[in-house]
Amino acid sequence: MNLVEKYREMKKRGEKIAALTAYDYPTARLLDESGVDVILVGDSVGMVVLGYEDTTPVTLEEILHHTRAVARGTMRALLVADMPIHTYETPEQAVATAKRLVEAGAQAVKLEGGVNRAAQIEAITAAGIPFMAHIGMLPQNVREEGGYKVKGRTPAEIEALLADARAVEKAGAFSVVLEIVMAKIAEQISKEITIPTIGIGSGENCDGQILVTHDLIGLFPWFTPKFVSPEARVADEIRRATRAFIERTRGTAALSKRRED
Ligand code: KIV
Repeated sequence: MNLVEKYREMKKRGEKIAALTAYDYPTARLLDESGVDVILVGDSVGMVVLGYEDTTPVTLEEILHHTRAVARGTMRALLVADMPIHTYETPEQAVATAKRLVEAGAQAVKLEGGVNRAAQIEAITAAGIPFMAHIGMLPQNVREEGGYKVKGRTPAEIEALLADARAVEKAGAFSVVLEIVMAKIAEQISKEITIPTIGIGSGENCDGQILVTHDLIGLFPWFTPKFVSPEARVADEIRRATRAFIERTRGTAALSKRRED
């Protein structure tokens, strides 16, 4: 059974897909050991790991580097790698990029777009590379759009979303990420297509959910998207441990200096 069939069957059985991002070996291994279905090496690495303002500066070399690390820690989850901006301008370039990601350890690839990227998606799936689509708010367009804006508010946006969902399904995607889409529209799309929808900020009625792990575990405390309820406060733990270490170090140093005097 190929991945498209497998994910269609999961959807039919009502099995929800839990997906998270990872960019390094220990995180991938922890997520994998915890039983997550999909690990995405997202271009969100640019913001939560590399300190860029958005995902647009992320290069293919950077994603390849992180994909190799994540692959070493992933035994059972499906490893998907993001295709950075400007690496899939034509179907030929898209296939070449997807192949490099597979060589680095990815089992599937993802790019942003629907109707406008159908040719690229068809070329990737025709090359035998499993493909996860991404429609709705597209972070690689954030500069043109002037922010992260909810999609599906107007009839034109709803029509465009439905067209994108149908296009990526037809082009051979095994699943589709819906990013900050109005919950009612995400639900409607989920009912209309046969491949699973994986929501991020798109309500509870998608066939699965994906989050940036740093948001879920509170590891990027300077910004948390409104739709995320963190399950942990790892940043606070890092600060606490760091302060304890500093105190221990300075305390010991001060003590031995006093002994010398
Ligand atoms: O880059 C990323 O992490 C993503 C997910 C948020 C869907 O594309």
